[in-house]
Amino acid sequence: MNWNTCIRQIHRWLSIAFTVAVIINVVAMAQEKQAIWVGLLALFPLILLLLTGLYLFALPHAAKWRSVRGISG
Ligand code: HEM
Repeated sequence: MNWNTCIRQIHRWLSIAFTVAVIINVVAMAQEKQAIWVGLLALFPLILLLLTGLYLFALPHAAKWRSVRGISG
């Protein structure tokens, strides 16, 4: 598996972790439980999603920059 596929897989699985954390958050809110770690539970995968997502976003652009450079030498 190459690096880009690996990052895409990480992003995919992080999205599941994030979704589960959001559900846990909603349940905790419904029970009116106040705990800082419940909030952090969703924040942590979201930060990682942002980083891996920005990488995925940059991939096609980086490929274009590379090919333009390749043509002009
Ligand atoms: C936080 C900022 C996020 C950014 C910047 C971001 C960005 C991206 C980008 C650029 C792609 C690739 C699209 C493509 O070219 O095919 C992608 C795919 C995806 N994103 Fe995100 N994303 C973010 C958050 C999320 C969240 C919160 C979820 C869901 C909970 C999510 C779920 C997915 C899934 C399932 C894919 C498809 C992955 C695959 O190809 O298997 N992302 N995202």
